[in-house]
Amino acid sequence: MVDSILQLERVTKQFAGSIIPAVKEITFSLAQGDILGLLGSSGCGKTTLLRLIAGFEALQGGSILLHQREIARPGYSLPPEQRNLGMVFQDYALFPHLTVAKNIGFGLGKLSARDRQLRVGESIELVGLTGLEHRYPHELSGGQQQRVALARALAPRPDLILLDEPLSNLDVQVRLRLRQEIRSILKETGIAAIFVTHDQEEALSLCDRIVVMQAGKLEQIGTPQEVYSRPNSRFVADFVTQGNFLPAQIVGNVVQTEIGDFEIPPDLLDYGSDSLEVMLRQEDLQLQPIRSEAGMGEVMIKDRQFLGREYIYLLKTKTGKTLQARTGKEVALEIGTPVKVLVNPAQLRFF
Ligand SMILES: Nc1ncnc2c1ncn2[C@@H]1O[C@H](COP(=O)(O)OP(=O)(O)O)[C@@H](O)[C@H]1O
Ligand SMILES: [Mg+2]
Repeated sequence: MVDSILQLERVTKQFAGSIIPAVKEITFSLAQGDILGLLGSSGCGKTTLLRLIAGFEALQGGSILLHQREIARPGYSLPPEQRNLGMVFQDYALFPHLTVAKNIGFGLGKLSARDRQLRVGESIELVGLTGLEHRYPHELSGGQQQRVALARALAPRPDLILLDEPLSNLDVQVRLRLRQEIRSILKETGIAAIFVTHDQEEALSLCDRIVVMQAGKLEQIGTPQEVYSRPNSRFVADFVTQGNFLPAQIVGNVVQTEIGDFEIPPDLLDYGSDSLEVMLRQEDLQLQPIRSEAGMGEVMIKDRQFLGREYIYLLKTKTGKTLQARTGKEVALEIGTPVKVLVNPAQLRFF
């Protein structure tokens, strides 16, 4: 890839004393200016992969290229300070005894005093901290401290910024706002980034492409839309979309489930197995109330949560399985209502 800034080739890392690799044969590349998400649950190897890219860990297999130049292979590792990367951590990692301006200027020792001052000013403005230059970290909110950390990472104009769960310590309002702002700031600077998170919504909303990881391995890579609408494994479907799963049988061109039969779109007809699981996304279920006598033994509304813009319904099937449905706030059904569940067959996925 000509405009690729970073390439990983079958990168493998196994810690001494561990029987399984923390990172196993990970391959991907990152284009200039792109934001790549590393998404996976705790312990799946996200931080280890980031530390390998940063040069804080040595790999046992594969190679890493930065600007087409090999920076890591078994037995060789370019030192972190020669990689021109910026880092942002979950706990901000600011120098407590330095002001905002001094924290941000810390990595700019090579510049003249005047250029350093200009660069610090620019970075402070970029992250929206103008006026707070002389504060100390303990005089700032968590969100402001993370902005300082971001400005410090951006100030040396690195080739790539690595962010390890930077929003996880912040409360939800700040997190949502900073999520959008980090994306805007990165896009404005054109600096490529790798954004580590265990939060699927964060990855979907902030990243241009997402790597879904499980147990050290890459499960799927794609745009947020691709990963969400065409998950290539049951694991990705569950982790990224948080959909519902039901056992299903395929008979002819009909998929039979305990909540009803659905005709299958032709492009799914060549599916190999006839006994499988069908995934129904929460937002793809339509609930149609039925009169109680006719609806006995059907799907029942067990509970509902009002989230302002939408409802989340908890449904109980005949066999006692729980399904979740998200509907607009105009679909207000009472708890205990029997319902018929309708889905657009084109939205179904099979595993
Ligand atoms: N320094 C280390 N020594 C031994 N095992 C480690 C070390 N760091 C991480 N691990 C193990 O590697 C796996 C991946 O960890 P990590 O990369 O921190 O995951 P994540 O960031 O996705 O939560 C875990 O099983 C963890 O216990
Ligand atoms: Mg981690």
